[in-house]
Amino acid sequence: MAAGRLAAIFIAGDCDAEPQTVARPNFTREGKTMDMKFDFNNMMETFVGEHGFSEAELETMEGAASSAVQAVQKRRGTGWLGWMELPYQQPETLDRIREVAERFRKCRDFVVLGIGGSALGTIALKSALLHPWHDLLPAERRGVPRLHVLDNVDPRWLGTFLELLEPESTCVNVISKSGSTAETMSQFLWMRDWLKKGVGKRYTDRIVVTTDAVKGALRAMAKEEGFKAFTIPEGVGGRFSVLSPVGLFPAAVVGIDIQSMLEGAASADAAAKAENLWENQALMMAVLAYLSFKKGRNIWVMMPYVQALRDVADWFRQLWAESLGKAVNRRGVEVHVGQTPVKALGTTDQHSQVQLYIEGPHDKVVHFIGVEDYGLELEIPAERTGQDSLDYLGGHTFNELIKAEQEATALALAEAGRPNCTHTIPKVTPFTLGELFFTLEMATAYSGELYDIDAFNQPGVEAGKVATYALLGRPGYESRKKEIEAAKAKRQGRFVIG
Ligand code: PA5
Repeated sequence: MAAGRLAAIFIAGDCDAEPQTVARPNFTREGKTMDMKFDFNNMMETFVGEHGFSEAELETMEGAASSAVQAVQKRRGTGWLGWMELPYQQPETLDRIREVAERFRKCRDFVVLGIGGSALGTIALKSALLHPWHDLLPAERRGVPRLHVLDNVDPRWLGTFLELLEPESTCVNVISKSGSTAETMSQFLWMRDWLKKGVGKRYTDRIVVTTDAVKGALRAMAKEEGFKAFTIPEGVGGRFSVLSPVGLFPAAVVGIDIQSMLEGAASADAAAKAENLWENQALMMAVLAYLSFKKGRNIWVMMPYVQALRDVADWFRQLWAESLGKAVNRRGVEVHVGQTPVKALGTTDQHSQVQLYIEGPHDKVVHFIGVEDYGLELEIPAERTGQDSLDYLGGHTFNELIKAEQEATALALAEAGRPNCTHTIPKVTPFTLGELFFTLEMATAYSGELYDIDAFNQPGVEAGKVATYALLGRPGYESRKKEIEAAKAKRQGRFVIG
């Protein structure tokens, strides 16, 4: 892309950093039944025998479940529950996201720098809603930039990435709520330097910052250097931020219908308000997971049978792990709770994981995600080969094959006494994805209530960040550095082979 063209596209220095308002709903879908279905037959003793739950057992949870709904709904929009209002962002907020996105859409490569909650949502959006081979399509067919999310600092992976890009046609969205995470900030310093060397002063036009309204080095740099900036609203932690500008801005750049995604989330929000356990998918999922954990099922396997949802499982892994893996409850009592979320993909992992799920320890629940409509019907040629072991396939579709495999796996698990449940969505669209994201977030929030833990902090992650700062010599972390060095010295030469 010619330098002149990009220079004309961007308006330098208009840093629009006013806090994004999270306020009155501008649309609701109260009363609308969700498009998604949750089938938990295979969690019940009727279908999995002694390893399942009885209706009476679930009924004993009705009181706790409705209290969880009341507690969460009462606090919605406050403290770390700010994310619950994200479906209802003001039209002006969305217009601004779209307007900036329109300009950045002219780049050939749109690069997101972020990690954890600042990256996983965008990765999930990309694989769910873009053409499966998006980045490989010719530019004319794509019509929007290639989208890259750099969520690691492996030097070879990063360094070689630049071989694909030209500074003239590259835009960067650096995302960090804290504005100080070592991985993201080092990537940012590196790409900023590369852009400066490539396009000189115009580098500022190619950078958008998404961060806290006031705190952190990133906000300070945005102001000083005049980058465009979006605000991550208060009360929205990383893993609950996909429906904030963290996910919405990159989504808008690549042409995803962000309004529809928020409408889907609003529909899930309305459904998740039901206090009746038997009518609320998020609540039922939370109760089933909680009771399963109590019975020693401390692994939750999310297994989409939809290639497009593989990274939703990755996103969910962080949501479930960071929110529910906690040492103490809200009264400070040591509890060490939380199921380990595992990501699997159907049918691929039938040939790698399912043996363990069916015959290994009774410590898992498998959560399938399926779709009714894959968006494409693909036939297996009906050619006769004379081989009985092949000819039964001919004339079927891949759609029938993958659905049969999903059904067969659920059945095999149930017959082996392995609890499993299934979310089915009609088709992967921005609306249903918004519904799925929000339902899983609500299930997480309700689980936090059942465990009586703070589902919105992450002291373990912070501990790792602090240790990194100390090791790399960040001012203010000197005493931690000394402690780490003393611990390292003790390990020197001990219990190491090779
Ligand atoms: O969910 C979280 O809070 C974390 O996973 C963060 O998203 C992650 O550590 C990145 O933090 P930040 O956005 O501050 O750079």
